[in-house]
Amino acid sequence: MYICNSVRQSIKIIQHLEVMSSLIIKSFAQYKKEYARSVENPEGFWAERADEFVWHRKWDKVLDYNFVDYQTQWFVNGKLNITENCLDRHLATQGDKKAIVWEPNDPNDAGQTLTYRELHAKVCQFSNVLKSLGVVQGDRVCLYMPMIPELAIAVLACARLGAVHSVVFGGFSAQSISDRINDSACKILVTSDGAFRGNKEIKLKDIADEAMSSTPSVEKCIVFKRTGSFVHWTAGRDLWWHEEMAKASVDCPAISVDSEDPLFILYTSGSTGKPKGVLHTTAGYMVYTHYTFANVFRPGKNDVYWCTADIGWITGHSYIVYGPLLAGATTVMFEGIPTWPDAGRFWQVIDKLKVNQFYTAPTALRSLMGAGLQHVAPYSLSTLKVLGSVGEPINEEAWIWYHKYIGKSRCPIVDTWWQTETGGILISPLPNVTKLKPTMATLPLPGVQPVLLTPEGKEITENNVEGLLCIKYPWPSIIRTTYGDHERCRATYFGLFPGYYFTGDGAKRDEDGYYRIIGRVDDVINVSGHRIGTAEVEDAINKHPFVVESAVVACPHPIKGQGIYAFIICDRTIVSEKAFKDEVLLEVTKQIGAIAKPDIIQVVPGLPKTRSGKIMRRILRKIAEGDISNLGDTSTLLDPSIVDVIKAGAPTLKGK
Ligand code: WTA
Repeated sequence: MYICNSVRQSIKIIQHLEVMSSLIIKSFAQYKKEYARSVENPEGFWAERADEFVWHRKWDKVLDYNFVDYQTQWFVNGKLNITENCLDRHLATQGDKKAIVWEPNDPNDAGQTLTYRELHAKVCQFSNVLKSLGVVQGDRVCLYMPMIPELAIAVLACARLGAVHSVVFGGFSAQSISDRINDSACKILVTSDGAFRGNKEIKLKDIADEAMSSTPSVEKCIVFKRTGSFVHWTAGRDLWWHEEMAKASVDCPAISVDSEDPLFILYTSGSTGKPKGVLHTTAGYMVYTHYTFANVFRPGKNDVYWCTADIGWITGHSYIVYGPLLAGATTVMFEGIPTWPDAGRFWQVIDKLKVNQFYTAPTALRSLMGAGLQHVAPYSLSTLKVLGSVGEPINEEAWIWYHKYIGKSRCPIVDTWWQTETGGILISPLPNVTKLKPTMATLPLPGVQPVLLTPEGKEITENNVEGLLCIKYPWPSIIRTTYGDHERCRATYFGLFPGYYFTGDGAKRDEDGYYRIIGRVDDVINVSGHRIGTAEVEDAINKHPFVVESAVVACPHPIKGQGIYAFIICDRTIVSEKAFKDEVLLEVTKQIGAIAKPDIIQVVPGLPKTRSGKIMRRILRKIAEGDISNLGDTSTLLDPSIVDVIKAGAPTLKGK
């Protein structure tokens, strides 16, 4: 029996190595071949990618889908557990390899590393903690935590039990947390006493307490001690992480889940209503995040990979936790911020941890670029091989700066375009394979079939064009539903252009077929790479007792990419505009979080509305952009004179 198992294990390892060598695309000719194969025979292509994983039961069928009433299933009837593929699978071959390297907020504090074996043990332990609290497969668990290893441990512990994690970014307000907890009726909330961010301490438990005053589904709150500061305690509900872990065994067999069982929910803003719970399932997400991570970042055996995102966003889910661990890589988790103690923090960490692949957002690059090269100069950055960008279009200046001063003109930049809903990267260069052009996400990865449509829904086949970016065939990690409201998912992504997944982005395609993402074409603002719905901000502003109506649009912002511009009508004369604006900012912080605070607030006597009462946002956008050269036809407005009044008071137009 023992021999039999070890022989089987060796065969599996040899097979694994063989698949790994064909997995990584090494030349442009190979890319073209693989891409063609993935389009001609998607099922065969993805079956090969899925084959190297550990399955409890193999799938009957690779893909079953329709884009009409929308459903997609990958690896139908397969049974597996993603954490076995992230952890257990690596123990025999590389149990002592570093899985997570944690860099704390304060550079003077000691960091922490967890090998695959140590991470496995901690995940099993925390699974047992959750189990002891009655968590079973399918239950939802909310995680509201700082960037500490325990967040990754909690994510994986949920997955080991088949429980569905819903991570809420640590910058969100109590109201946002309770909205998200209530939408999916989470049973457990995991948080920490506080979080360190730069020179600030954020009292997460206080915020969580406020949220839990209106979340009837939460039975227990597990609190990790990070800052050691005072916390209020609700006996019977609140439990210390360390006390529960001390009681838990390190042995926890992984539950067998179906390929299409939910893995996680992640809330994201849309153009209307409350944020929607994007739901991803297990097998397709696993296969796709692994394949894309391995190809886009291609870490060598001893490399150190660092993605600076927060696990509260999709980038952290797919490319800090799942993708890297599935690939057996070493992934860095960073608790701090780019500008503290100074604007050299990223570069210092790269040298300290000998980082080889570095993945960040244009907004961070722009702010560090602005701080000056003296913050880069002390560091060698010689270990870097691949640089990544994500979350928003990267402007040419930032691209060139990144390439020249961080990559020393030798590291390719992978400008990766994707979304919470896509689960993984869809369009990106492959390093040292795809010829780069600054600001271009370039070409689709194998398995991805992008198209540009006219507003009427006609496919544009020529190059050198601009259109609405859609995808015409499913890839394994495509959104499955929006939690509790499948019709919203169908209508948002598949309703507008029948037969296509609509991304909400506009894009250009050049003469080489390269894509350049222009940005959102819906009412979503991309602030520092984070999606904020204009409707959400308007709802928050409208909660102020003086506000009659508001309209929120994007305005250009030198660091954040896009800023938030709010036009507000009040029901009375404002005595102190400053005091009023501060109150509005407070209201938005309370309702959503500081990330959604408007950059510009303009109190206006009216808004440009059509006779049917619809706000003409096009006009407001132009004013917010400081560009009134062509406001278009304003004759259909109920009161065209309002435009001149708004223009006269617009800070963006002062002096024009
Ligand atoms: C934008 C983040 C240009 C885009 C992974 C998309 C980008 C939205 C890029 C998704 C990029 C993301 N170039 N724009 N490389 N990457 N975007 O859901 O507008 O937070 O629709 O996912 O960010 O944001 P989300």
